[in-house]
Formats: sequence, structure tokens, C-alpha cells
Amino acid sequence: MIAIIEKKKNGQVLSKDEIKEAVMGYVEGSIPDYQMSALLMAIVLKGMNEQEIVDLTDIMIHSGDMLDLSAIAGTKVDKHSTGGIGDKTTLAVLPLVASCGVKCAKMSGRGLGITGGTIDKLESIPGFQTKLTFSDFVNEVNQIGMALTSQTGNLCPADKKIYALRDVTGTTESIPLIASSIMSKKIASGADKIVIDVKVGSGALMKTLEDAKNLAHTMIQIGKKYQKEVICLLTDMEQPLGYAIGNRLEVEEAIKFLKGEEVSKDFYELVLTIATYMVHLGQSIPMEEAKEQVLENLKNGQGYQKFLEFVHAQHGTLYQKERISHKNICATSTGYIRQIHADQLGSIVKELGGGRERVEDQIDYEVGVVLNKKVGDFVQLGEVLMTVYENQKTIDEQRYLNCFEISLEEVETRPIIYEVIG
Ligand code: URA
Repeated sequence: MIAIIEKKKNGQVLSKDEIKEAVMGYVEGSIPDYQMSALLMAIVLKGMNEQEIVDLTDIMIHSGDMLDLSAIAGTKVDKHSTGGIGDKTTLAVLPLVASCGVKCAKMSGRGLGITGGTIDKLESIPGFQTKLTFSDFVNEVNQIGMALTSQTGNLCPADKKIYALRDVTGTTESIPLIASSIMSKKIASGADKIVIDVKVGSGALMKTLEDAKNLAHTMIQIGKKYQKEVICLLTDMEQPLGYAIGNRLEVEEAIKFLKGEEVSKDFYELVLTIATYMVHLGQSIPMEEAKEQVLENLKNGQGYQKFLEFVHAQHGTLYQKERISHKNICATSTGYIRQIHADQLGSIVKELGGGRERVEDQIDYEVGVVLNKKVGDFVQLGEVLMTVYENQKTIDEQRYLNCFEISLEEVETRPIIYEVIG
């Protein structure tokens, strides 16, 4: 292992056997955390070539089981996000896509770092079951067209173990490590076609468009080796997505969207675009036709009906819960919103109890913030910038205010989707 670490430290190319020795040794316990950490850091600093990334992905895929979804007829389309603040897209996209007749068998994760996870969001619905057996997972997709579960079976144990180590060793922001982590899970979980939302900005793992493009191309190349069609959307994460951040608040925002109520422009556009790509891939129909179907099923409420069926199938009960205490944070000056720091808001919501400091921590599903303004909006002195929902812990008002930058000049807004690759 020392020779392998040194080889990578010197910027040399690792063979598949060497990568396998390191990864499988780590999974099996013969290689300790400190040696794996050193290798991961060398990979972060020196990178990997395309062959090494493909080899690493292949080893991670075969470190555990691969799901066989052949009992589900038709094309299975999956989606994945590299993670962002307020990203509740899956909750709105999947029912909409399933209502258009495209099968969605999706595995999701829990929150990590300052970003939330779909499984935690769903668990804010009382009674909701997120741990399905493989046969229940397949049956649900066959019955209602969709299912969402936390990891089932022994899927990519190498990624599970390495990801946890990366989280605590400053080695998350690496294109080879992110690409192999995402693609190994997507390939092992059996979907035919995959749409990946690659987030770019201060609240995302990829801080620049150039890095995000690089990551997208790498994942598309890996997909090709396994005959999986991959489409990557590069999307903005300079400000939180939508208005809500916090588990239950985000579920409520997704429901609002599905009910056809007004939501923020960025969230609306992103959900519709991802859903359209998934229907386009799933049915092999032109984009225009796919978009028509998606819009129609949003308008006629079929997407919302599918969401209700899905919640019912996984034993959840939707009801209006009484709100915990909340307070408004108001602007201390007049002007245009220039920045809403997604990363800072993500950290605050995590601190309030909306995320975990340690794996064993209990999440407080009720806490979070709901923005009243987005970048580019005009705000008057004293007007509400956001409402915050606090429970066990309170945070100084100034820290909330620091998340906003207000300028006197008008602000040009960024698009939510920068580019589509694949
Ligand atoms: N999501 C993943 O699954 N893995 C990464 O490395 C980053 C985001």
C-alpha cells in the first residue's frame, strides 16, 4: 500500500490491480483508514487519467451486489444530483415522470455535509418507510411506476466506506472520486439511462463551470463503457434552490409545485427540465413531445396524484402539522439582492438540527428557513428576507443577515441551467 500511495503521490498512473488492492483491502479491513486517506489525498492532488477512473469505478461496482431490474418492464430512467442546498428536485420530478408512464426505481441518500438528502426529507413525512426490501422496491415500481428507497442490499460497499472517509478527510472535491462514486452507484443500481444534475457554485462541490464540465464529461465517458446513456445538466448553486431549506419545509415546497401552486422560477424550471429529459429518454420521444406530456401532467394534477400514491404505498401520512416557533429576518437596508450565500444557509440549517454532525445524530425535521427573496429581487428596508424555523437551538439574527448581500445597483440574475451535456 505504501508503494501505491507513493506512486500516486509522484503523479504516476496506477494499474487496475494496484487500485483493486487498495480499494478491496480497505473494504475488507486489511488497509487502515490512515493509508486510504493518504491515497485519497494523493488522488485529489495528482488526479487520475480516464483509464484509472474507469478502473476505479469498475472495482467499486463489483465490490458488492448489482441490482437486476429486469423484472420491471420498459426503460428505467434514474436521476442524481451532486448535491446542493434546498435541492428537493427528486420529490417533484419523480412523480411527474412516473405519471407520464416512465418507470423510476430510485435509490437515494441521506444528507451529507451541509447538503440535505432525499431520504431524510421523506422521513419527515410521518410513517414514511424509506427502507424497502428489493422485492418490495420492484413490486412498487411495477404497481405504481415509481419507488424511492435508501440503499437496498450490499450495493457499492467500497463507495459507502470511502465516501464516509472522504467526508472527514477533506477529500470530497475531486473529479475522479466524485465521478467514480456517483457512477458506480448508478450503474450498480440497474437503471438504463441517467440524468445527472451537476451543481456549480458556492453551495456545491464544483465551484467553477470548468470543473463541472469536466466532471460531466468524465461521467458521460464512464456511462458509455457500460452502455448507459448519461445526460448532465450543469445548474446554478450560487444561491439555494427554490425558497425552502430544511426537511419538512422542502417536502412542502415540492407538494406546492405538484399542486400547481406558485413556486420560485428556478425550482419550477429545473424540475420541468429534468422531468422532460427523463421522459424523453424513457420513451425515446422528441424533447418537445416530452415537455408537453410533463406540462400536461402538472396541469391536470396527475403528477400530484402519483405523489399521493407513492406516499401511501410507502406508508406515509400527509397532514398539516402545527408549525414550530418562527421568526422573520428583515432587511436592514433597501436595494437589490446580490447574493444569498447557499453554503452559509446550509450550515445554519444543519446547526439548527436539520442535518447531522455525526452519523448517529437525530434529525430535527421541522427546522429550516424559507426565503422570501431571491437573487435579483428588490427589497425595502424592514421587508422580510426570510422566515426561520427554530426548535432546540436559536441562531443570532446577524448570522442570518450575513447570508444576504444587498446592493444599490440592479443585479443581473444567473440562469438556473448553464448547459446540458450528453
Ligand atoms: N454524490 C456522490 O454520490 N458521491 C460524491 O462523491 C459526490 C456526490
